[in-house]
Amino acid sequence: MSTTTVESKHSAALDAAETGDAHLITVTLRVRRFNPEVSDQVVWVDYEMQMDPKERVLDALHKIKWELDGTLTFRRSCAHGICGSDAMRINGRNRLACKTLLKDINPEKPITVEPIKGLTVLKDLVVDMEPFFQAFRDVMPFLVTKGNEPTRERLQSAEDRARFDDTTKCILCAACTSSCPVFWNDGQYFGPAAIVNAHRFIFDSRDEAGEQRLEILNDRDGVWRCRTTFNCTDACPRGIEVTKAIQEVKRALLTRRF
Ligand code: SF4
Ligand code: FES
Repeated sequence: MSTTTVESKHSAALDAAETGDAHLITVTLRVRRFNPEVSDQVVWVDYEMQMDPKERVLDALHKIKWELDGTLTFRRSCAHGICGSDAMRINGRNRLACKTLLKDINPEKPITVEPIKGLTVLKDLVVDMEPFFQAFRDVMPFLVTKGNEPTRERLQSAEDRARFDDTTKCILCAACTSSCPVFWNDGQYFGPAAIVNAHRFIFDSRDEAGEQRLEILNDRDGVWRCRTTFNCTDACPRGIEVTKAIQEVKRALLTRRF
């Protein structure tokens, strides 16, 4: 594995003199590069650039892509923490690049950026999300009701709604699942995100497929694989209490009350 360096053409002093951007600092992004069409070897490439410390890692990745090396490949869409497409390992921790300010991650040192773990890397920072989404689909992430069509909407008390409020916040970024050591060791495990999304419907008073979802998660690759390491809760950019949700599903399986 080797490391090469790509620098922006202007020096910091020259940039500052030309533009008055004295607040800019030199930032090095150390990015894990992999392109199976070129080589089966991984290389780490250092990209040096002038950045405002209040900018985000996503801004630095854009600068690389647009000004230094157009071959760098990563996913992003909304750029505002909503779509969940830019989860990556930044300085060894899963985060959304669009929600991570440079000033908060020690920009004086090289900032490492690599793909999330446990899913096959397709190119650079892009992983194959299909196993992750299949686990999500497997828990039936939609409301299931049998008959009794309401004439207007299905009513629910504020208290019942609060029961699953936390797990409605999931943006399917995979930061939780790809930070889970059980998932790293055995990609068959449903993973925290699928359980969070099952929780969202199991505890919805309007839904009638809770038992079915619990049986799906009672599988050998279901909730019982969780080792309560809290990595998932630490990684979640939405602040969801992922481990608590998993515990609640486990308890519902034991008591059949939800
Ligand atoms: S629970 Fe949090 S970390 Fe996991 S997929 Fe949803 S938003 Fe991302
Ligand atoms: S780009 Fe959409 S969440 Fe970061």
